[in-house]
Amino acid sequence: MNIVVGVTGGIAAYKTVHLVRLLTKGGHDVTVVPTEDALRFVGLPTWEAISRHPVTTSVHDDVAKVRHVALGQAADLVIVAPATANSLAKMTAGLADDLLGTTLLATEAPVLIAPAMHAEMWRNRATQANIATLRERGVHIVGPADGELAGGDSGPGRMSEPEEIFAAAQALLTPGDLLGVRVVVSAGGTREPIDPVRFLGNRSSGRQGVALAAEAAARGAEVTLVAANIAGDVLAEARHPAIRIVTVGAAAELADAMKREAVEADVVVMAAAVADYRPVEVSERKLTKESGGVPPIELAENEDIVAALASARRPGQLVVGFAAETPEDEVELLERAHRKQQRKGVDLLIVNAVGWERGFETAENAVHILGPGGVDAGVASGSKRLVAAAIWDAIAREH
Ligand code: C5P
Repeated sequence: MNIVVGVTGGIAAYKTVHLVRLLTKGGHDVTVVPTEDALRFVGLPTWEAISRHPVTTSVHDDVAKVRHVALGQAADLVIVAPATANSLAKMTAGLADDLLGTTLLATEAPVLIAPAMHAEMWRNRATQANIATLRERGVHIVGPADGELAGGDSGPGRMSEPEEIFAAAQALLTPGDLLGVRVVVSAGGTREPIDPVRFLGNRSSGRQGVALAAEAAARGAEVTLVAANIAGDVLAEARHPAIRIVTVGAAAELADAMKREAVEADVVVMAAAVADYRPVEVSERKLTKESGGVPPIELAENEDIVAALASARRPGQLVVGFAAETPEDEVELLERAHRKQQRKGVDLLIVNAVGWERGFETAENAVHILGPGGVDAGVASGSKRLVAAAIWDAIAREH
């Protein structure tokens, strides 16, 4: 998406550097439009380097491309962070004496502003009247937070943290096409116990499944995330009022949780990596070398959970499976995927090639999406969140 980030002259401009970084890492194309004053706080080279685009404050640069209106016209979202009291007044009056002013007047995209100023200036009736007017015109406002301000004061007026502004921006850019849809997503990897300290496991971090849960919630779904052994920092990405987390360990627990949660679900997504086998015997005590010789581990087959969910699904319910393959080439990848989709009876199958270096524990992914009947429903690559968005696009088309 094309995002314009306007920066006005406040000390919080340093936090906007991190916001721009979050936006570019999230796959967005960001153009920074600072005011002259903003450049006294953070310089032009920083904005150019972090956004990877030329930066100017003036309406007189790049005139041939009609830059003073082109930026606003092309934007999917305009953010102003920090928005000073002065810039709020200018916005309310519709002043256009610099590139940010013309961009704001020329855009029809949503506008998100993050005010930052001293508590007195925020409470001032002029500022409050400006905020009320902007809100009435449909401008979205994030913050300000209550807390420490420049100069040692404290109170309302602190710019919201970059992560919060980023989340608000994402919410404005995501369609609400899953409003009220009940979704269950499994994520992570199962651990099949051998003894109280050891298990058979796999390298799934749960990142793709967590991204699927977060994306669904952002689009309005009610989500249950069945999380198998996911690290706290990864699971933190699923912190959302519409996401309920159920934690499980072994495949049998995952199976119980999924069967229970799927009863009420409209869409079931099985992104977890499930062990196909489990040790038949689970030793009550830790196996030691003193137990004598190399211990044999006899394995029994686990139930195929997604196949069971697919064959028990009620009319209208969609079941989505995953296939992580290590093929020789693309042809073999798709052949295997088609066979798996039929064998498991799932509606959609998300296929990715994995290996020592790819697929697992990484921030990025690349997938093929097979729709009902094995039809090609597209490919997606990039951050796991972007891949999640493409997967939900495909699911929403079928729902
Ligand atoms: O057969 P394979 O493990 O490649 O299939 C992957 C898909 O099947 C994933 O959606 C995974 O969650 C699911 N699966 C399952 N139960 C198993 C093994 C895999 O639901 N025992």
